[in-house]
Amino acid sequence: MPEAPDFLPKSSLYPVQKTNRASVNPLFGAQFLSSLPFSKHRSGVKILAVPPNNTMGVTVGKTMQQLVAEQLKQKPDSVFVFPTGNTPLSGYQALRDMGKQGEKLDWSQSKVFHLDEYVPPQSGMPQQLESYATYMKRELLDHIGAEAFLVKDYLRDPSAYDAAIFRQAPDGPDMVILGIGKNGHIAFNEPGSDAKSQTRIVDLTDATVKQNFGEFGVNTVQEAKQQGFPTQAMTLGMETILKAKTIVLLATGEASKGDVLRKALDPDSPPHPSIPASYLKNHPNVYVVTDFTV
Ligand code: PGA
Repeated sequence: MPEAPDFLPKSSLYPVQKTNRASVNPLFGAQFLSSLPFSKHRSGVKILAVPPNNTMGVTVGKTMQQLVAEQLKQKPDSVFVFPTGNTPLSGYQALRDMGKQGEKLDWSQSKVFHLDEYVPPQSGMPQQLESYATYMKRELLDHIGAEAFLVKDYLRDPSAYDAAIFRQAPDGPDMVILGIGKNGHIAFNEPGSDAKSQTRIVDLTDATVKQNFGEFGVNTVQEAKQQGFPTQAMTLGMETILKAKTIVLLATGEASKGDVLRKALDPDSPPHPSIPASYLKNHPNVYVVTDFTV
C-alpha cells in the first residue's frame, strides 16, 4: 500500500474497495471526448482542464453543460443528481441558454435529485439565506420539466431519499455532479465521513459555516447558532455518490480549493476520510472539470 502523505496520520490509512469496473458502462465515446480538453490523470480520474479566467470560450460551466447534454442525449431517461453552490451556476445558465438558442434538451423522461439541503431548509432561516430547494428550482428545475425529487421532502427519513434514488436507478444514478469544499468535503460529507456513509443528517463544521455563511459575517457554528443560521444539513452519503455510473467534479474558485483538490487526487496516497473527495480516486468513471493545475 502506498505511503500516506505527510498531512495524514500514517496509522489510520483507510482501505476502500475498488468499484466493480464490470458494473460501470462509460457512456461517453472517444468522438465526444475528443471535442473536450480531455486527459487522464495519474490518479485514474479523467481531467477536463479548462483554461483559467474563462479564456477561449471554454469554461467549467460550458463543459458541465456539454457533459449533461451528452448524457441526456445518449440516455433520455437518465437519473441525475445535481449540486448547489456557486460553482455550478454557470453550468445551469448554459443549460438554460440551450433552450433559448433553439437547442432544447428533452428532459421529459429524466429524473432529477439534488445532493443536499440545510436543516431546517427554510423555516427559521435568516431571510437572506435560501434553501437549496429554492436554488434548484430557480436555476434548473423550473426551466426543464424533469421529474424532481427534493431533499427537503425527505428530512424525516433520509434513507427514504436513497430508496427513491434506487427505485428510479437500481444500479445507481447515471450522473452525479459535485462541487468540492475548501476542506475537501463532497456534498455535506465533511472530513471524517466514511466511504460507506449513508444519506443522513450531519452537523456542519466551522470550515463549512465560514465558506457558506461568511458573506453574512457568520464564521463559526457557534455564531450560526446565535444568529439563527442552520448548523445541520442532510447530505447524500458517500456510498450513494460512489454508486453513480458517472461522476463529474467541478472545481474552480479560490486557490485553497486547488490545494485540496491536488491532495485529494494525489496518486501516491490512498483515499482517506480526512479528505472525502479523495474517495473519488477509487471510482472508475470520474471527470474532474477544473481550471486548477492538477
Ligand atoms: P461552492 O461550494 O460551489 O459554493 O464553492 C462547493 C462545495 O462546498 O461543495
